[in-house]
Amino acid sequence: MSDSPQSIETLDQLAAQALAELAGISDSQTLERWHTTYLGRKGKVTLAVRRVGELPKEERPAFGQHANRVKQQLEAAYEERTQFIKAQEMERSLAEGAVDVTLPGHPVLRGRLHPSIRTLRRILQIWADMGFQVYRSRDVETDEYNFQLLNFPPHHPARDMQDTFYTTQSDVLLRTHTSPGQIHAMRAYCPQPIRVVLPGMCYRYEQITARSEIQFHQVEGLAVGYHIRFTDLKGTLTDFAQRMFGAGRKTRFRASYFPFTEPSAEMDVECILCHGRGCRLCKYTGWLEILGCGMVHPVVLQNGGYDPTIYSGYAFGMGVERIAMLCYGIEDIRYFWGNDLRFLEQF
Ligand code: DAH
Repeated sequence: MSDSPQSIETLDQLAAQALAELAGISDSQTLERWHTTYLGRKGKVTLAVRRVGELPKEERPAFGQHANRVKQQLEAAYEERTQFIKAQEMERSLAEGAVDVTLPGHPVLRGRLHPSIRTLRRILQIWADMGFQVYRSRDVETDEYNFQLLNFPPHHPARDMQDTFYTTQSDVLLRTHTSPGQIHAMRAYCPQPIRVVLPGMCYRYEQITARSEIQFHQVEGLAVGYHIRFTDLKGTLTDFAQRMFGAGRKTRFRASYFPFTEPSAEMDVECILCHGRGCRLCKYTGWLEILGCGMVHPVVLQNGGYDPTIYSGYAFGMGVERIAMLCYGIEDIRYFWGNDLRFLEQF
């Protein structure tokens, strides 16, 4: 078209072609392309209008006025088409997004508590009923809190009982037991009497087997006050065992060793399965070990800020998964963190 001489007629032809094309456009992308093609800086109409200089001087004003009208007309048509397409697109998206409220819903699977957490909550509930507060202590500890303040000096052989995950920062480790919480609680409450339980995850750098995992929950207990005796410890733990495993359940205490208690003991309960007659679960002994305990060592009391000539206390620590295994008859501790739904759905 640029070959033909410039005139009002050729401009009108171009405008007519543009309008015809515009009428067929139904999406905003094509519409934008149309605008660039005809009315953009290098658009056909824009260039055609610029060629006004090819006309004889006396024809130029009339052409100019006409060109302005044509451009206004095209812009107006473009604007109208834009509104039309927008309205259409809105209608389309409303129609596509429509929700059919009569369709059946997706079934919602009900979650349930993990057997560890169920057991942990039962244990904490019993201690709460007996007047113990829950005290939360950190998972990441220093060597000082996890060992030294609990009367494990450096290189003490008792450290070998608890293989440790160390971090890249020297002296920072994952707690191997909840006992460091005893120090935190004592330092937080000193000089008031204390009755707390400290639940939490513990970590040990061990070979994973049916009986040992690299992580497990413990519930630690701590009572500090005046005139607390070993009989208080025995009576309280026996009461706990009866509430947890059933009234009349027999218990026994065996002497043991922990650096942070003196004297130390372990408590067994009568086997849950065979009631003491002897079976595979209790390895034909009739007894199941469920916790370690003892009278808080004077050095540990002192490290917590309590004068051991005035105060005394007892402590205990139990493994939650161990107790869950006994309660539910779970034979392999690896099930707990295996995330196998066939296992988890049984609880
Ligand atoms: N911290 C010990 C462990 O993980 C368990 C324990 C034993 C805790 C005796 C105590 C205690 O508070 O008195 O093996």
